[in-house]
Amino acid sequence: MKRLEEKIAVITGASEGIGFQVARAFAAEGATVALLARGQEKLEEATQRIREEGGSCMSLPCDVGSTPQMQGAFEQLLARYGRIDVLLNNAAVAVPGDIVDDSDEEWNHLLNINLLGVFRGIKYALPSMLKQQKGSIINMASVQGDRSWDHWTTYAAAKGAMKAATRQLAGQYGPQGIRVNCISPGAIDTPMNQKRAAEEGPEFYEACKRMHALGRMGQENEVNGACVFLASDESSFVSGIDLSVDGGLLVLPRS
Ligand SMILES: NC(=O)c1ccc[n+]([C@@H]2O[C@H](COP(=O)([O-])OP(=O)(O)OC[C@H]3O[C@@H](n4cnc5c(N)ncnc54)[C@H](O)[C@@H]3O)[C@@H](O)[C@H]2O)c1
Repeated sequence: MKRLEEKIAVITGASEGIGFQVARAFAAEGATVALLARGQEKLEEATQRIREEGGSCMSLPCDVGSTPQMQGAFEQLLARYGRIDVLLNNAAVAVPGDIVDDSDEEWNHLLNINLLGVFRGIKYALPSMLKQQKGSIINMASVQGDRSWDHWTTYAAAKGAMKAATRQLAGQYGPQGIRVNCISPGAIDTPMNQKRAAEEGPEFYEACKRMHALGRMGQENEVNGACVFLASDESSFVSGIDLSVDGGLLVLPRS
């Protein structure tokens, strides 16, 4: 039996990067995956690829920053499948900023997607999980919730708040069989970082290598194992943790 057989798994931000790789891994482990992301074209390509690989997959264009879109997407998912077993809150934007120069609009934009997007996912998935007295919620945080990097205050604050919310919800809903955990990747070579590299130049990749004990960046699919573990019943007694998938970044002094 595959590790996610018969599970319905919803992944936000699943059209590329970490979310897409995890969706492939979930499908390969037997889950039916529902991909949520903004860009219709990439979403269709991702869905097609997973189906070609033999996976069971559907997709819904949805902006996690929009309450009506998130509510509508979860209503459609529940109408189709009747339940949600796994929710991976993965969608986020990486926008640097400066506490002095940033406007309220810039703060609100990032927090609305990276933090409130996670709240929305949980709000609309929880009732179904509570009905079945079982569910696994995984929030994609970051080592940036624990470390200081200049000009990333708002992004780091959203990730730090997500870790606090994870512990809070794990405590509150544990008695009803809901597990809530987060994962903190180090620097992973995804479109998010490829965009940063294009803006910051080749030194970006060198700095990324130096910051990990393993001396390299993570590959796109290297967060899959942690996600499959937390989604599956193998982690049935694991709740409220922050699982680092960071190549040993946190054990090194900041360079
Ligand atoms: N790449 C890294 O080094 C790294 C490190 C730590 C944490 N993370 C976290 O991992 C997650 C995935 O990162 P990634 O590097 O794969 O990013 P990515 O930019 O490569 O992919 C992000 C995905 O999220 C989607 N998305 C963005 N905004 C959205 C919105 N408003 N609504 C719906 N979908 C939206 C995009 O369409 C895309 O599918 C994020 O939460 C990120 O903060 C990434």
